[in-house]
Amino acid sequence: IDIKTLRGVTGGVTTIDPGYKNTGSCESAITFLNGEKGILRYRGYSIEDLAEKADFLEVAYLLIFGELPTQEQLDKFHGDIKKHSVVDDDVKKILDAFPKSAHPMGVLASLTSALTAFNPSSVNVESEEDMYNAIVRILGKFPVLVAWTMRKKQGLPLNYGSEDLGYVENILKMMFEKPNKEYQQSEILVNALDKLLILHADHEQNCSTSTVRIVGSSHAGLFASLSAGISALWGPLHGGANQAVLEMLEGIKEDGGDTKKYMGKAKDKEDPFRLMGFGHRVYKNFDPRARIIKKSADEVLGDLGVEDPILDIAKGLEKEALEDDYFVKRKLYPNVDFYSGIIYRAMGIPVEMFTVMFALGRLPGWIAQWREMRLRKEPIGRPRQVYIGENHRDFKTIENR
Ligand code: ACO
Repeated sequence: IDIKTLRGVTGGVTTIDPGYKNTGSCESAITFLNGEKGILRYRGYSIEDLAEKADFLEVAYLLIFGELPTQEQLDKFHGDIKKHSVVDDDVKKILDAFPKSAHPMGVLASLTSALTAFNPSSVNVESEEDMYNAIVRILGKFPVLVAWTMRKKQGLPLNYGSEDLGYVENILKMMFEKPNKEYQQSEILVNALDKLLILHADHEQNCSTSTVRIVGSSHAGLFASLSAGISALWGPLHGGANQAVLEMLEGIKEDGGDTKKYMGKAKDKEDPFRLMGFGHRVYKNFDPRARIIKKSADEVLGDLGVEDPILDIAKGLEKEALEDDYFVKRKLYPNVDFYSGIIYRAMGIPVEMFTVMFALGRLPGWIAQWREMRLRKEPIGRPRQVYIGENHRDFKTIENR
């Protein structure tokens, strides 16, 4: 049934579906997800293949434009991104005005929105060419904002990357380069970050992506839509879970490593504690990304020679949950963020930056979904409600209330 016919059939009927658990908001050709079977595909390619064989920029191209790029297409895309990676100097002043204690997600959302002021041509995009220009601009500038947000927190001078580096290599250089020290590229870190970013690159109509689509549906510009998506991602029930997981695991370690106690708390309905990094709206069997990340955590920590006791705590919690009725009955399994923070920490990324790294990975997905929505000329997103408030009331003057 097509959407116009459906509208005709339902007439004025409004369905209530809190959390949109059963509501499809759009038709999309970008990401396929089967929660029962644990399948995730970008444009038809399995997440396992992409994580193993592609790099992040190829995946970004695939998500946004629908096909894996030829070498020539990839070189042009990367060249255009590099051309637009300079951020206006005045953005540094805005960054400077934030207190050092500001959460990086708030800073990133603000800076992304601020970019509209310095790139007015990226606001009212109508043609595919306008869209392309806005897309390469944000793909160029966003990693700079990410790196600067981290450097500001660490009191490091702001920098730019190098023209001759790959997209992900350049991100790492911008993040980790220290003054008066020669920067050494680490293949281990490049591969680890490439994989993490690919695994986070899209996940169909999740909270932040739906936010990007709904803001973009009013024809607000790409950067404003992305800024809203970043805010949506920040919450601990969504992207903020990666920070929350690490803080939880750290807390369990400091409390003596008694995982059983925390399993009990998670099951206690009177206790607000939830096992962060567990459960997913769609995956009811396993999250294929979590499997890849768990393996990657072992490899990366091994390669870097890092021994982190919280990896054992995480594995212990997973094992107990798999054998626990409460978790089994509710089909609660580790999600993408249960192990990602352990890798980020081993890479030297501060905990408060974890959700920013998620945003960096999700950027091409948000862009692809926004572009698809605009090209399909979708209508403005505007859900209905069922009113449950007071009926008509006569106005009372203030002395009679
Ligand atoms: N720990 C303990 N119990 C849980 C957990 C958890 N992590 N997750 C869900 N449950 C329980 C709920 O209490 C509920 O129990 P009930 O049926 O007895 O009331 C049942 O499982 C179903 O959970 P809902 O909250 O209804 O599921 P929903 O689809 O609305 O929420 C969500 C999914 C938000 C991911 C939830 O599982 C959660 O809060 N997980 C922890 C936070 C997290 O890891 N978020 C990241 C998600 S992945 C991502 O965004 C990248």
